[in-house]
Amino acid sequence: MRRAKISVIGAGNIGGECARSIAMKELGDVVLVDIPFKDKPELHMPRGKALDLACCGPVEKFDSRITGTFEYKDIEGSDVVIVTAGVPRKPGQSRDDLVSINAGIVKSVAQQIKQYAPNAVVIVVSNPLDAMVYVMWKVTGFPANRVMGQAGALDVARYKTFLAMELGVSVEDIQGLLLGGHGDDMVPLPRLTSVNGIPILDLLPAEKVQACVDRAKVGGGEVVKLMGTSAWYAPSAGTIEMVEAIVRDKKRVIPCAAYCDKEFNVAGMNEGKGLFVGVPCVVGSKGVEKIITFKMDETEQKSMNESISHVKDLIAVTRKLFPDLG
Ligand code: LAC
Repeated sequence: MRRAKISVIGAGNIGGECARSIAMKELGDVVLVDIPFKDKPELHMPRGKALDLACCGPVEKFDSRITGTFEYKDIEGSDVVIVTAGVPRKPGQSRDDLVSINAGIVKSVAQQIKQYAPNAVVIVVSNPLDAMVYVMWKVTGFPANRVMGQAGALDVARYKTFLAMELGVSVEDIQGLLLGGHGDDMVPLPRLTSVNGIPILDLLPAEKVQACVDRAKVGGGEVVKLMGTSAWYAPSAGTIEMVEAIVRDKKRVIPCAAYCDKEFNVAGMNEGKGLFVGVPCVVGSKGVEKIITFKMDETEQKSMNESISHVKDLIAVTRKLFPDLG
């Protein structure tokens, strides 16, 4: 049987960590793609990273082939393409501040994916996430189930981590859900959060749960403030959770940025049109195989509406930059 081929566009911190995790879990062979440095054309970062990672194989006991390239034609036949290309945040910047530069980058990456990997499932990681997934979908013209954004997997991991720290229990025993866009108005759902089924609100005072919710919302920014650049370990872990669900056809239920229409009142908030926003998805070999809907209470739907309208505004900015996107 053929191994999965997974291409990673952008060989920076998140891209490199994704490549490492794919190899460690033997999810498939990896092609790491980037562009040459303008000021140091003699260097070849993707090839260097690929070589360094390949040499972990004998120690870590993996056989994944890892290659690095400047050529998009090398992604031909990819089953999954992860897009991490774009600039990361600097202290004081929001994800939205990246839109004008990253929209252009993601647009040109999308054109290459359309040409060379027309059958791939695409996972977008670049920020501002929900708008970048939209750009990817529009430019590739791929069916919506094969274009998804990584955000919820990461945001819910942060939420669970902070709750586990507060409770002094294993992160493995926290169940939780988080919807909405990948911004500070994402929507963690304490009503649907538990420790092995025991409602979180029975275990912690409401203000402590709220503190974890608030910290999760700005969890990415907390790391940016500490490191001077965006996080990469947890964003990669979230991405790889999705990749594994796809290449092993696991039908995992993961919050992903997926194309929604009437689900969670998305079209109702967007002049009757769909857009990409974080919702619980069944993730398998076809990508987003199903969106799971459920009834939110009034407060939850209100927060979701706010998050949706934020995503809508971001897409309007993207459309202004690239009117041909439609
Ligand atoms: C974060 C970036 C990667 O939340 O979106 O850390």
